[in-house]
Parts: sequence; C-alpha cells; structure tokens
Amino acid sequence: LKRIAVLTSGGDSSGMNAAVRAVVRAGLVSGIEVFGVQKGYQGLIDRLYEKLTTKSVSGVLQRGGTFLQSARCKEMRTEAGLRLACDNLKGLGVEGLVVIGGDGSLAGGLAIHQQGIPVVGIPASIDNDIPYTDLSLGVDTALNNIVRAVDNLKDTASSHTRAFVVEIMGRNCGYLTVASTIASGAEFSLIPEEPYDLGQICKDLRKRYQEGRNNSIIMVAEGAGRAEDIAAQIKDSIGFETRVIVLGHYQRGGSPSAFDRLLGARFGRAAVDGLIQGHTGTMTGLKGTAIALTDLKKVTQAGIRPINPMFPYLANSLSV
Ligand code: F6P
Repeated sequence: LKRIAVLTSGGDSSGMNAAVRAVVRAGLVSGIEVFGVQKGYQGLIDRLYEKLTTKSVSGVLQRGGTFLQSARCKEMRTEAGLRLACDNLKGLGVEGLVVIGGDGSLAGGLAIHQQGIPVVGIPASIDNDIPYTDLSLGVDTALNNIVRAVDNLKDTASSHTRAFVVEIMGRNCGYLTVASTIASGAEFSLIPEEPYDLGQICKDLRKRYQEGRNNSIIMVAEGAGRAEDIAAQIKDSIGFETRVIVLGHYQRGGSPSAFDRLLGARFGRAAVDGLIQGHTGTMTGLKGTAIALTDLKKVTQAGIRPINPMFPYLANSLSV
C-alpha cells in the first residue's frame, strides 16, 4: 500500500480532527502517503485534495469541527457523481480511502468500495445512531456540551421557578437526549424510541410545582417533537412559567473531550491497519473497551442503533 486518502463527510463532530491526525501519522509511519480530501465527497468530485504531512496535522487535535471541512453532497448519491469520485481517486493513484462520518457518509463509502477501491469507515456523528459501535466519534463532546448548557439553564430556571423545554439534536435517535437527561439530572426525557404521555407529564410537573420545587427541565429529542410545540401544549397546566430553548448546532462544536480524542486516535490507527491488512469494506467500532471492524454492508443495512432500555429506565426512575 503506497497511497491512501482520508475525508470527513456529513455533519461535523468533535474528534474528527483527532481521527484524521491518527490516519495521517499512522500512514506515514507505515510508509504510506496520505492525501486529505476537502469538503467530503464534494471535494472528491471537485478534486480538492492535497498531500498531508505530519506538520499538516499538528495543532488540530484540540480543535472541534474538521480542518478538512465537510459537506452533505447530493451529487455523490447519483451514479455520475459516484463514477466521478471513483475516477478521481483512481487518477490520484489512491489504493485505499478512510471515510469519517455518519450513516449517509458510510453508505457512500460502501458504494466506493463496491467500485473496487478499498474503504474503511470511521463512525462520526453526534447522533449515536450508527449500529455496531457503542459510541460514535463526537457523542461524548456533544453530551458534555449539553450537560453544560442544562446546568446553566437550571440556575436560571430555579431562580425564577421556571420550566425549560430543551430541544436536543439526534435526528431520529434519542440517545443524546436520554443520556444527557441522566447526566444533567433533568426531569423528563421525550425520545422517538419511547411513547410519552403529555397529560401525565403535565400532572407530574404540576405536582412538582405544588411541592415547591423551583425548576423543571423537559428534554425533547428533535425526532420526538419540537420544543416549541411541546411548550405550547403544556404551559397553561403545569404551574411553572415556561421557556423554550433549542440547543441546535451549539451541541456539535467545541474542543473534543479526552474521550473523543482517544477514540479518534484509536479509530484512525485501526482504519489504517484495516487498509494495510486488507480488512476493507468495513467500519471501525467500539465494542466494550475494544476496537473491532464490522462489514459496512451490515452497518448500512442495520438501521438506527437501538437504545439500551436501561437508559430510558434510568432517566425516568432517577427523576422522581
Ligand atoms: O447528524 C448530525 C446532526 O447534527 C443532527 O443531529 C441534525 O438533525 C442535523 O445534523 C442538522 O444538520 P445540518 O447541520 O445540516 O443543519
């Protein structure tokens, strides 16, 4: 193996830079040239790539986002786009590609692999919706961002006897919401994976108000409803004055946690090893404390990663 390429695609997540850095340095110490593709698959189509050196990746470890930049590329979903991307990779003499991104990006990686260019994927998305890995890159940092925000909101909520309805990202997956509910001590967690009863939630909130509690935090996954709508439905019947906050893209950025830096380093090294050893058409994953590769086909066919039922159970039972 003489030359590989690396790209980051889809929504950015903290730790992507750590993974790119690991891919570059693991490649270089193994005698492999590494090209960095800018703006994800769009950059493959538009030939935005350059050779990376060990210096190119110095100082990136502690930065959020992705220094290679990212994009959501519709063209890559077309036959012509895929062909162009593969032709450009072949023209560049690339014998392997590391794709760092979420479910759509990994599906793109599989399509390239099926065209005969070896690919290893690295799961990176704050949503934690990718199966065959306990955690995706960036989830831990996003959780820390959310917990920090909710801690702040609690100060204000309890100073004014208010309820906050907080909308959390995650697309159709409730992981970030339920995990941050537990970690921040919020009272309610509305996720797409579990039915919820707004009537019961209103009763519980009114009871809290009557007991003299000075705040309540209701976490809503974007896949379970809009915070604005939930607040409109509950605000007249709970006693607490109500405010809404959509945490939005604030959740995605920021300096990666030590956990995400470590995970990025481990995933990056494992991806290069996978390419060297010919274990391609795969995705790196965290299984317990070990890193393991899973077939990309299996990953893309499995749908959304299910939530461990212990999470909703803990969120509900610890908030009484
Ligand atoms: O997949 C990551 C994510 O942040 C989702 O949680 C969210 O629904 C979406 O991306 C937002 O996409 P965009 O950054 O394109 O607005």
